[in-house]
Amino acid sequence: MDPCTCCDACDNLCEIVPEMARTFKALGDLTRLRLIYLLSSDSSGTLGVSELATRLGISQPAVSQHLKTLKSEGIVDSRREGFFIYYSINRERMVLFRKQFDRIYASVMDKCDKEFVWTETRQISLNACVIFYSYTGITRGVAEKIGNACGCDLVPVQTKKEYSSFSAYTTGVFRSRKGACDPIIPEEIDVSGYDLLVIGTPVWAGKPTPAINAVVQAFSGCEGKKALIFVTSCGIPGEALPLLKAALAKRGVSVIGEISLTKNEIGNPEDGNSLIEQVIAAYNACTDQPDMPEKQNENPIEDYP
Ligand SMILES: Cc1cc2nc3c(=O)[nH]c(=O)nc-3n(C[C@H](O)[C@H](O)[C@H](O)COP(=O)(O)O)c2cc1C
Repeated sequence: MDPCTCCDACDNLCEIVPEMARTFKALGDLTRLRLIYLLSSDSSGTLGVSELATRLGISQPAVSQHLKTLKSEGIVDSRREGFFIYYSINRERMVLFRKQFDRIYASVMDKCDKEFVWTETRQISLNACVIFYSYTGITRGVAEKIGNACGCDLVPVQTKKEYSSFSAYTTGVFRSRKGACDPIIPEEIDVSGYDLLVIGTPVWAGKPTPAINAVVQAFSGCEGKKALIFVTSCGIPGEALPLLKAALAKRGVSVIGEISLTKNEIGNPEDGNSLIEQVIAAYNACTDQPDMPEKQNENPIEDYP
């Protein structure tokens, strides 16, 4: 099956799920399950409506109706021999159903694990804010997860004029290379009340985005603040981190942690855990706290696989 283009990380569940829902509906009836059992345990290949009705102890029209439902989902096949119609299980359809179910199961368990690590790692409330720009949503996802896990404020930044997928790679890349600042909303970002600033941006052309360059200039009350900076990229972060660090230094903000993330790492629970650990360590370092400032979760994850 070719990947569809609906989702960011497509595993074709959007196509499988409606089909599975119909199949589950067809299977969600005791009489139909008994019919399937009878047909699957029959080796004669000559089970017809009347025989099935006798074995199940129900009327022939009722059996016909149930067989119709199972046939419409492809679970049951029929063949005509003279005046008789015989029914059998469609093995290929059952194998496909099993494969689809396995895929949904794997995907759900995988997602549960990730949610678990991101949201349950700790329940804390850091006096920090996550300021970020995101064009396609990846950096936003990371920022939100840090916000959820650490109880930080979120400050999403938008460009006043949004980039199209064309202009991002032309004007956007050009402006990134130049180190330009885009007009942004909000125009001013007062960070005076925070102990730690977490600043995130995608990498464009190996550099920070023009939006995050503007963020650095939009800060007020930033002198003497500490920051943890992160970039998301396809694996070629270039000079994005050092350039962002240098720009922050000019505003009196010292960077005490730098993180570069790729899409694969963002989806990996271990890297997710490690990111949260780094945010907390940076916070503890800048607030001189030897231990967690939080109420520990009653069931902390000690050895997440
Ligand atoms: C205009 C543009 C330029 C990019 N340049 C780079 C690059 O130089 N190196 C890289 O690894 N990824 C590059 N990327 C990929 C993004 O950095 C990466 O997909 C990022 O995680 C997207 O974050 P976002 O969804 O928050 O916008 C670029 C993406 C865009 C749109």
